[in-house]
Amino acid sequence: MREEVIKGLKVFKEKFGDKGDIRAYFAPGRVNLIGEHTDYNGGHVFPCALTIGTYGIARRREDDKLRFYSLNFEEAGVIESSVRNLKKEERDQWANYPKGVIWALLEEGHEIAYGFDVVFYGTIPNGSGLSSSASLEVLTGLICGDLFHIPMDGIQNALIGQKAENEFIGVNCGIMDQFAIAMGKKERGIFLDTGDLSYSYVPVVLEDAKIVIMNTNKKRGLGDSKYNERRSECEMALAELQTVVDVTSLGELSESQFERYKSSIQDPVREKRARHAVYENQRTIKAVQALNNHDLEAFGRLMIESHKSLRDDYEVTGMELDTIVEEALKQEGVIGARMTGAGFGGCGIAIVKTDQVTHFIHHVGKAYQEKVGYDADFYVVEIGGGPKRIDV
Ligand code: GLA
Repeated sequence: MREEVIKGLKVFKEKFGDKGDIRAYFAPGRVNLIGEHTDYNGGHVFPCALTIGTYGIARRREDDKLRFYSLNFEEAGVIESSVRNLKKEERDQWANYPKGVIWALLEEGHEIAYGFDVVFYGTIPNGSGLSSSASLEVLTGLICGDLFHIPMDGIQNALIGQKAENEFIGVNCGIMDQFAIAMGKKERGIFLDTGDLSYSYVPVVLEDAKIVIMNTNKKRGLGDSKYNERRSECEMALAELQTVVDVTSLGELSESQFERYKSSIQDPVREKRARHAVYENQRTIKAVQALNNHDLEAFGRLMIESHKSLRDDYEVTGMELDTIVEEALKQEGVIGARMTGAGFGGCGIAIVKTDQVTHFIHHVGKAYQEKVGYDADFYVVEIGGGPKRIDV
């Protein structure tokens, strides 16, 4: 952490000078353990924050200017904007995310009278599905909260990030990513009911096993994925179910209720989408129970079922994710594996016995290269804490 802050500070001073009150901040990335595509269906999710994330070095200005620079997109140079008349602009590229958060804060009635200069430095691989964009959003919320004395707790910050994503960026995402990041806690998974935002922290005790993230290196952007399409398929299926049963979301249905009422869904594809949402929600509840009972094997089996459902019913995996998960499941010492995040590329996640991790990475990597034609990357990750200001 020190190292990244020192690097960020150095670049900040080069770009924006060394005068004044320069502050440092961090927001994590996230990985979802189970509960995929349930967060916009009023279901449960079970993500956790990671120790990798995004650093921000910032200083308030005396005018309304915004100056953004990212060590991850150096070729974009310094991107300038203003806290007045914020609009999404193609030419502002990645800076649309922090701009969107400032826009959302203003929309919610918070006062931001000044601009700021900021250097960002992220250690999350971009486009990998580990929420580099939500991390940037929550980080921007934290920076604004601190610089402009905006009273805001973690949940409010998460909701601001989601508003920015939905209404400024134009991706209809749920609350999972921003929530997992804003509310992250070391060594804990967050068991969140997206229906009412009630949550609890669950110790993720893996004993002699590790979380291995498997990056397919197939880039995905939520905007150009079929994400919004899946969301509206679920909404239509819900409307059809509502003609026969009194529910406000797919997350309210048990498996047996779904089986009883599913014939109201007029289209077999929509039926599959809804089945995934209902069963995945129930799997997430069961997975957390399994973890609480120290039954890691059961947790792993539910991860495998989750992947199958995302592959066959929700159809968001694709060749790369299916290959990496299939190869992962062939290895000794693997407890469970699945795709994680939105899908269509990005990352898989596996739980692997510690003494088999090196062997696992080598063999999955080799098989993936042979079948897909390019390399995958692997990260053995730890569950980290939430966003914070760092003393400099
Ligand atoms: C993306 C979205 C989340 C969630 C997942 C799928 O990460 O941002 O809100 O819907 O996909 O579980």
